[in-house]
Parts: sequence; structure tokens; C-alpha cells
Amino acid sequence: MTPHNHAKPGDYAETVLLPGDPLRAKWVAETFLDDARLVNSVRNCLGYTGTWKGKPVSVQATGMGQPSLSIYVHELINSYEVQNLIRIGTCGGLNAGVKVRDLIIAQGATTDSAIVRDAFPGFNYSPIADFGLLRSSVEKAEAAGLRYHVGNMFSSDVFYHAEPGLEGYGTLPQHGILGVEMEAAALYTLAARFGRKALAVCTMTDCLITRDELSAEDRQSSLKEMVTLALDVAVDS
Ligand code: HPA
Repeated sequence: MTPHNHAKPGDYAETVLLPGDPLRAKWVAETFLDDARLVNSVRNCLGYTGTWKGKPVSVQATGMGQPSLSIYVHELINSYEVQNLIRIGTCGGLNAGVKVRDLIIAQGATTDSAIVRDAFPGFNYSPIADFGLLRSSVEKAEAAGLRYHVGNMFSSDVFYHAEPGLEGYGTLPQHGILGVEMEAAALYTLAARFGRKALAVCTMTDCLITRDELSAEDRQSSLKEMVTLALDVAVDS
């Protein structure tokens, strides 16, 4: 048990899906997993373990942002021996070629976060996905006929920037950044630090360039596609 997690040792599977939203963790557990049981509810940051295609998988909410994710991920790794961590999230679009409901599979994650910067004084560290999980997710997205993009995600500490419009993103869109979310870089950094595997897969829900947004119905069906993909990657990992 930890200050943020009352699960017992062995309550989590080796592979954990990580949505930000606690209610999305509940929805994943109730909609997709067999024999799902609640393993954590401290602060309502819900965690469940069940099975998918007969194999154990967990889903644990991380809350929003890198400070919150870092707490849950640190503890999943160090107190619960979790080996594979797969973020399932939504992101904003920063590239006109990425359409709403497309998946962004984050090969790397650029960040403005002090959590990553301050861990490497004098260096610009590159947080990257585990190649095996990345390859598996690409193969499965391809087989399922999903629209997906593999590349560099921006993991921001800021949702509401002081600067108007796209100014808060500087020249990132001109340097191959596909989308913006708020967790992947810290996830990749922690996985690297502790020798675990991590991947972030995000559905693009709102394009900051075209202002397109995913409708409520499309949101639900595209999230289902993403979760199915992540679960298939999880049980193969
Ligand atoms: N910014 C940061 N995180 C996000 C966004 C965004 O526009 N959309 C979904 N997650």
C-alpha cells in the first residue's frame, strides 16, 4: 500500500492501461474486461484488474498532467512490480495531416515539463516509447484498418497558455510534433529510469490548427477502437 494506492501486492497485472480519467478506467473495466475487480479507489483515482482474451490486464487512472501521472506510475512500478505501462488518452492536434479520431502513437514525447528537464541537468533528454510495444501497436492498428500516425507528441504542463492561439506551442508544429497531451514524456522517462516498457496511444479529439472537434458519438466509437488496440497490445506484451 502507498499513500495513493491501497491495492495489495499482486493486485495489478504485469501490464496496466493508463487513462487520465478515473471514469474512463471504470468504463474500460466494465465494458471490456472479464471478471474486473476494483483494486484502488484512493482519491477516486480508480484502478481495476480483470482479463482480456483470458489474460490478466489492469487499468489505472493517472489523473491529468505529468505530476499526477508520475505518482501513480512510480508506485505501479516500484510497489506493484508493473512491467508494461500503456497510456490511453486523448490529445489535441498540432498537424493538419492528423484528422480528428486518428490515433497518434507517440514514438517520442517532447516536453516543457520541469519533471523531465530537472532530471537531466545540462542535457535535453529524449523520452521515447518502448520499440516492441510501438511495433506491436502499429501492426495491430494496421491489421484493424485504423488511421494512425507514429511520431513526436508534445507532453505539455500547460493546458491554458498565456499566449493566444498556437503561440504557446512555439515552433513545435514546424518540427514534426503531431499532437499535444499532458502525460507521455513523464511516463516514458519513468519507464526508462526503472527499466520498464511504456507506450502512449492517443485519439486526436480536437485539432488546434483547423479547430475541428470530434462529435460525442464519434468520440465513444473511436475510444473503443483505441482501447481494443491497447488491450490487444497489452496481452501480447
Ligand atoms: N491540450 C492538452 N491536452 C489535451 C488537449 C489539448 O488541446 N486535447 C486533449 N488533451
